[in-house]
Amino acid sequence: MKKQKTLSIHKCSSCGKEEPKWLGRCPECGEWNTFVETVIRNETSNLGRTHASSKKSGLPQTMPLASIDPMEGSRVSSGIGELDRVLGGGIMKRSSILIGGEPGIGKSTLLLQAAAAIETKGRILYVSGEESAGQLRLRADRIGISKDKMERIEILCSGNLEEIETVLNAVKPVVILVDSAQTLYSENTDSSPGGVNQMKFCSFELIAWAKEHDSALFITAHVTKEGVISGPKTLEHMVDTVLYFEQNEKTPGVADCRFLRAAKNRFGSIDEIGIFTMGEKGLSPVEDTGRMFLVRRDGDLPPGVAAAAVLEGSRTILVEIQALTIPAKGTISRVFSDRIDSGRVSRISAALEKHLGLRLSDQDLYVNAAGGIRVSEVGVELAIACALYSARTGLALPADLAIAGELSLTGEIRPVRRLPGRVKTAANLGFTKFLGPPETEGLKANNVKSAIKLIYGTNEQKNKA
Ligand code: TYD
Ligand code: MG
Repeated sequence: MKKQKTLSIHKCSSCGKEEPKWLGRCPECGEWNTFVETVIRNETSNLGRTHASSKKSGLPQTMPLASIDPMEGSRVSSGIGELDRVLGGGIMKRSSILIGGEPGIGKSTLLLQAAAAIETKGRILYVSGEESAGQLRLRADRIGISKDKMERIEILCSGNLEEIETVLNAVKPVVILVDSAQTLYSENTDSSPGGVNQMKFCSFELIAWAKEHDSALFITAHVTKEGVISGPKTLEHMVDTVLYFEQNEKTPGVADCRFLRAAKNRFGSIDEIGIFTMGEKGLSPVEDTGRMFLVRRDGDLPPGVAAAAVLEGSRTILVEIQALTIPAKGTISRVFSDRIDSGRVSRISAALEKHLGLRLSDQDLYVNAAGGIRVSEVGVELAIACALYSARTGLALPADLAIAGELSLTGEIRPVRRLPGRVKTAANLGFTKFLGPPETEGLKANNVKSAIKLIYGTNEQKNKA
């Protein structure tokens, strides 16, 4: 006769929170000893087999979809809103997350802050092959981690895989933070220490450990200036999520921001970015960017500057678009725009030339977004058009004007997503005028010609003459 196997969950009698394992204290409502085991299904053992048990028997087994514990897909908050945002709503259990970035960008700081903030009652293991225990403690004090939080963070200063695995099996952490992939090495491989193969082998072992033990793994990796993640690139396919921490060239007059961007995310979108500033006490998440990507000025704007209301994932950001046009140095005009797709800039300038008779094809075009933010959303197009127009004609745009709209090759302004939200955000930031497609509550324009007319009125005619 087949052995009966019980599938059960533990349910908090106070708030109803369900957990796969019994817990002394409910992470949801904080009550003690409220977890009660609830049988959800009786199964014969060969049906209820888990991944781990099938592994032990040596026979590969399938399992009915319905018998799989849905709690496997649950997330825990990292306690850092901006990190949760890029992860897709928190840290997925059993997942592995690679954080790449140049030295000095703040990877170790982010990891330590997350160690303190993660919303779990379980233990956290911070493995550092980069810094000494003393240095870690100094940083923890600097960023103001409370004694209380420090208690639950176990520190291991080692890059030795065998040592790390011994500690993992003893500590059984729910979250493992490894800094960095490049410092990992193993005695059990033939490959040379410090090489890519060592790093891959060790990372793979840790990823597998985390999966098998219901933990989550963060692992950092250095990226060189050229963005070639010599090595870390080879880790990308092994992990569930790849985040890059980056900082672009500083814009005068704009706060210094660091961006956390997902290059791969098995459990969420890659549209969301996390925004941070680095201060005396570590990284501060920036939820509402406010006027951060707008250059502070008193009075009028210089020509070539436009404020765009663009979407970055779920939030709306007001960002200053700066354009400069100068007679082309070569026989062909060139486009320089690091943070905005240059193909997009070329297309917009062609549309301006065609539909406004504004000569741009003999000019070199420089287009930039203030504050080092990369703008890829289509809603930025009309603002780029206005900035280019303003740069070329020397006519400044009104300082209280915000712009959103997609520009087609025919010169028409196309509707954009979440327009009312953009108008509202701009208004909250003090923009009294909003230029956009015909659906806009504000200055409505069908095409780029009427948009320019709406902005400059008859002045435009005068200046062109
Ligand atoms: P770090 O996290 O060590 O970067 P990474 O691990 O990516 O190499 O920190 C990067 C920089 O941040 C370092 O130059 C010092 C600076 N920093 C601050 O400005 N404020 C702080 O509170 C901390 C902890 C670091
Ligand atoms: Mg570091």
